[in-house]
Amino acid sequence: MKTISKLLFVTMLYVSLTTTVVAHDTDKQIYKKVDDLMKKMTLQEKIGQLQQLTGRNSEITGPSGEKINTEESIRRGLCGSLLGVKKAEDVARYQNIALNESRLGIPLLFGYDIIHGCRIIFPENLGISSSWDITAIEKTAQIAAREAASMGIAWTFSPMCDISTDPRWGRVSEGSGEDPYLGAKIAEAMVHGYQGKDLSDPNTILACVKHFAAYGAPQAGRDYHTVDMSRRMFRDRYLPPYRAAINAGAATVMTSFNDFEGVPATGNKWLMRDLLRDELGFTGFIVTDWGSTDEMCAHGVAANGKEAAKLAFDAYVNMNMVDADYIKYGEELVHEKQVSEKTIDLLCREVLAMKFRLGLFDNPHRYGGDRYKSETYRPENLEVAREAARKSMVLLENNGILPLKGSEHIALIGPYAANRKEMSGAWRGLVEHHRTTTFLEGLQTRFGKDNITYVEGCKPFKAIEGGIAEAVAAAKKSDVVLLTMGLPNSCSGEAASLTSIEVPQVQRDLLTALDSIGKPIVVLLVTGRPMDVGFEVKHADALLVTWHAGTMAGPALADVVSGDFNPAGRLTMTFPLELGQVPIHYNMKRTGRPMLSPDSKAKYFSRYIFTPNEPRYPFGYGLSYTTFDYSDLKVLTPEVAMGESVHVSVKVRNSGKRDGAEVVQLYLRDDIASTTRPVRELKGFERVELRAGEERTVEFEITPEDMSFWTINEEFAQEPGTFHLWAGHDSNATLEGVFTVKR
Ligand code: BGC
Repeated sequence: MKTISKLLFVTMLYVSLTTTVVAHDTDKQIYKKVDDLMKKMTLQEKIGQLQQLTGRNSEITGPSGEKINTEESIRRGLCGSLLGVKKAEDVARYQNIALNESRLGIPLLFGYDIIHGCRIIFPENLGISSSWDITAIEKTAQIAAREAASMGIAWTFSPMCDISTDPRWGRVSEGSGEDPYLGAKIAEAMVHGYQGKDLSDPNTILACVKHFAAYGAPQAGRDYHTVDMSRRMFRDRYLPPYRAAINAGAATVMTSFNDFEGVPATGNKWLMRDLLRDELGFTGFIVTDWGSTDEMCAHGVAANGKEAAKLAFDAYVNMNMVDADYIKYGEELVHEKQVSEKTIDLLCREVLAMKFRLGLFDNPHRYGGDRYKSETYRPENLEVAREAARKSMVLLENNGILPLKGSEHIALIGPYAANRKEMSGAWRGLVEHHRTTTFLEGLQTRFGKDNITYVEGCKPFKAIEGGIAEAVAAAKKSDVVLLTMGLPNSCSGEAASLTSIEVPQVQRDLLTALDSIGKPIVVLLVTGRPMDVGFEVKHADALLVTWHAGTMAGPALADVVSGDFNPAGRLTMTFPLELGQVPIHYNMKRTGRPMLSPDSKAKYFSRYIFTPNEPRYPFGYGLSYTTFDYSDLKVLTPEVAMGESVHVSVKVRNSGKRDGAEVVQLYLRDDIASTTRPVRELKGFERVELRAGEERTVEFEITPEDMSFWTINEEFAQEPGTFHLWAGHDSNATLEGVFTVKR
C-alpha cells in the first residue's frame, strides 16, 4: 500500500504539472525553438542568460576583470534577467537595449519581490495566513500578479515556503507560520494565484518557491545563521510547503542563504539535484538568492568566486542573482573542463524555455507598457485588500469592550495610529504610501471625525516630549482608548532578528499611564511576528492583532472594532508565554518524559522548573464576537485498510448572538509509529460562516497521504495502527476520536 500513496503523489504531480504549465506538445515546440536559438549562441551568451543583475545600473566586474554597468552588460549579452526595476518605463528601456543593442536580441526577464502585493499592499504573509482562507489568499496573489504584470514584472520571488517556529527570526512575517499542512495549502494557492492556468497569459507571472531549503530554521533565530537538522525532520516538517508549491507547477525555485548538512544550499547537490529535480520532479529553473554564490566563500567552502561558481554550476543552479561569478568565471571553468558545456546548455535551456513560455519572444513588451494605469488600484481589488486585512486580524483578548457600541468617544493613541508607512510591513512591492488608509482615517470614516481624538503619544522606540501627558488628557475626555502598539516594519523581514519579542518599553510606559485613569483600553498590536504580550494583557480590556495590514488597514480595522465584521482570524504561529520557551509550536515531537498534566510539579519530566510548557496562545487560536460549540465528533470509518481514506464529521454550532465565521480544525496523532511523531498535527480545516444559532456538520477526509510520513525505512509511506484525532476550535481541541488502519 505504500506504493499507493506514492502513486497518488506522482499522479497529483503529473496532473498539476500538466494543468498549470503549458501542454506537452507546446513544450516540445518550445524546446525546439530554444535549441535553434542556442545553436546561434556563443558560450558567453549562454552564460549571460544565467546572470541576473539589478536594475540600479550597478557596476559589476566582467569576464576579463573589467568594470561594466548593467546597461553595458545587457548590450554584451551578459545578462538574462534584471530584478528590482520599479517603473514600467525603465522596464521598456532596458528591454529595448536587450532587443536592439545586443547581438541576438534575446528579451530580458524582469523579476521583483512581490511578496504581499504590488501597488495594493495586502497584509503581511503571516497575517494573511491567519485568515485560513485559501480562496482569499489565492485571490490576493492573483491581484498582485495582475498589477505586477502591468508594471512590466513577469516574475515574483514568492511564495516564501519556509516553515519557522522561532519568532526571533524576522522573516516569519513573510511566511505562513509554523504548520506544514496549512503552509502547503497556502503555498499551492499562491502559485495558482500568480501563475494562473497559463503562463503566456499577460496577466500572470512566474512564481518562485523560496528559500530552498529550510531557511526558516536558523540557529537561535538569527538570520543567515546555520541550519542543522535531521533529514527526517526536514522531510516531515519543512519540506511539505515547498513540495506543494512545486506540485502546483511553480516555475522557479530560489536557493537559500543557509547551509544544509554542512553544504550551503546554493552549492548543495543533494538539495538541488537529488531532491528538487530527481525526487520532486521540478522542471523549471533555479535562481540563487542575492549573492549567495559568492557567499560560499564566506561560508568557507570555496576559496574564491571561481570555486563558488563551480559549486553552483555543479548543483545545476540555473541563474545567479547579482554577484557576477557566473559571467566572470563561467567561460574559464568550461575551457578548463571544470564545468562541461553540456551543463551550461542544460541550465540555459530552462531559462530560455521559460522566456518562451511567457511569450516574451512573441512580444517582449507584453508586460508593462501603460497597462498599469488601468490595472493598478482597481476599486474591486481594494475591496479584496480590505477583506483580506479584516480576515487576517486575530482577536486574542476581549472582556466585552469589543465591538464598540458606536456611541463612544474614542481616544486613538500610539505610534501606528496615523502612520501610513508602518502599515506596509516588510517587502512593500511597489507601494505608494500615500494610497494607504490609516487606522485614524478608517475610524474617522466609520465613526465620524468628531468622535475620535488622535494623539501619537510616542514613537515606536522613542518618547515624545509631553506625549504621555497629551495621551492621558485625550483618554480622560474619551469613553474608550484604542492604543496601537507593537513593532515597526523595520523589525519585520530580512535581517530583522530580535532577542526580545516584547513591545518596546516606551510604548509600555504609555500603556501604564493610560491604564492608571481607568478607561477601557483596546490594544491594537501591530507586528509581523508572535510577541510576548503578557504585560499588555494585564493592562488591556481587549487585544487585537492587526499585523501590518496593508493599503486598506484603516477600513479593515474599522470593520472589526465596529462589529460590522466579526473577527475570525486564527493564529498560525504560537504566541509564547515568554521568549525562553522558543522554539515553541503545537506539533512538537512526543518525548519519553511527557508532562503528566499541565499542573504537575513532578520533576523528571520534560518541563521547565518555573514556567509552564504551554504557550500564551496556541496555534489555531483566536476569538470571535460570538461563540462556537462543538459536538458529535464521528469517525465514520473507524477501521480502514492501508490506502483508504478515513472520514470524519463534527457538528459546530454558533451558540452566540452574532453571525460569524469559525475555522474548524482537525488534528491527528499516529499512536505508535516506526519513528517518533508529533503530539498532534493539523490534517484538515474548514472556514465556515455560521449565522447566530446555526449548526453545521463539517466533514473531513483524511487521506493515506495525510497519514504518511518519512518512515524508519526512509520512505514517505503509511503505517498500520491506531490514530487519535481531535476536532475543534484550535490546536488544544479536546473532542476526541480514534480509528485503526489495518495492515
Ligand atoms: C532575499 C530574497 C529576495 C532577494 C531579492 C534576498 O536578500 O533573501 O528573499 O527575493 O533578496 O530581492
